[in-house]
Amino acid sequence: MSFEAFGQPLLTFPDAEKSPLSIRAKALVFVDPRSRQLRQELEQLAPRSISVLIRGETGSGKELLARHIHRASDRGGLFVSVNCGAISPNYADAELFGYAAGSFSGSASSRAGWFGSANGGTLYLDEIGDLPLPIQVKLLAALENHEVTRVGAQQPSPVDVRLVAATSIDLAQAVAAGKFHERLYHYLREGRLELPALRERVGDILSLSEYFLGIYSQRLDLPVPLISEAAQQALERHSWPGNTRELENVIHFALLVSTGDEILPEHLNLPEVPASLVAIERQLKHILSEGTASERAALKQLLKDAALLLL
Ligand SMILES: Nc1ncnc2c1ncn2[C@@H]1O[C@H](COP(=O)(O)OP(=O)(O)OP(=O)(O)O)[C@@H](O)[C@H]1O
Ligand SMILES: [Mg+2]
Repeated sequence: MSFEAFGQPLLTFPDAEKSPLSIRAKALVFVDPRSRQLRQELEQLAPRSISVLIRGETGSGKELLARHIHRASDRGGLFVSVNCGAISPNYADAELFGYAAGSFSGSASSRAGWFGSANGGTLYLDEIGDLPLPIQVKLLAALENHEVTRVGAQQPSPVDVRLVAATSIDLAQAVAAGKFHERLYHYLREGRLELPALRERVGDILSLSEYFLGIYSQRLDLPVPLISEAAQQALERHSWPGNTRELENVIHFALLVSTGDEILPEHLNLPEVPASLVAIERQLKHILSEGTASERAALKQLLKDAALLLL
């Protein structure tokens, strides 16, 4: 299965590309064992026509995964990306499912809507938890019956859409709170993918950094600098609340402010970690990897007690 290039036509909301700096990644950099496992799951899911629900933090690469699923599914239609949070609740029905000519004042012609535009392809619904409940009900019906009724239309029209939805929240909790349609949740759960936060797949950090360095150096026509040992450690230590998008921005800026042929920690502009904490971290790592069984057990107990104290 090839994941090299997209080459697919694409429709997006104008604001779908949140960061104007962001590049459209062509490759999925997945090196950490957890990412490789995810890639396997993705390759198994992609050719099946079931809906997919991707759960992951902001900036972790959910849309990129969705594009790869579309690419690997061999569906000939468009990949249509819609941010549910950006849809006006009053027009959500018409935006998603389209409308018949004359159904609103000023609607002289009909419109297919995002669902119809994805006919034969993949509809990517970002932050699906933001969809109003009545629209969730209509969405489930459209997926189950393979047809949609445009606003103001008398008859439903057949559609063949593969849905890939994404969420950064736990939809099970939204269901429990009565904010998300339970049957839609169970329908989506069938093809569930958990995209771990970047800090949970540390093995990806340096490969992604090098990947972004390569791309931005080429774009800015600069030689590709090396990442110094200390900068590598700083990259691996940071908790990346903004995940891969944050890493991409950090690398882009580091490239712009670095003067020599090496990226140093000060070019990364990451929050400073006190030297004492770094020393403790080194010590802990040493005990965990080299210590005796009893030293490791004592350390684990100590960490547990400390966590209890902090809670
Ligand atoms: N594994 C990866 N390999 C290469 N590039 C990646 C990878 N993961 C994410 N990126 C890049 O990081 C940026 C953020 O990814 P993406 O937009 O897919 O995240 P997201 O989870 O959809 O974000 P949001 O929650 O804000 O919608 C993009 O430029 C994307 O190309
Ligand atoms: Mg996104």
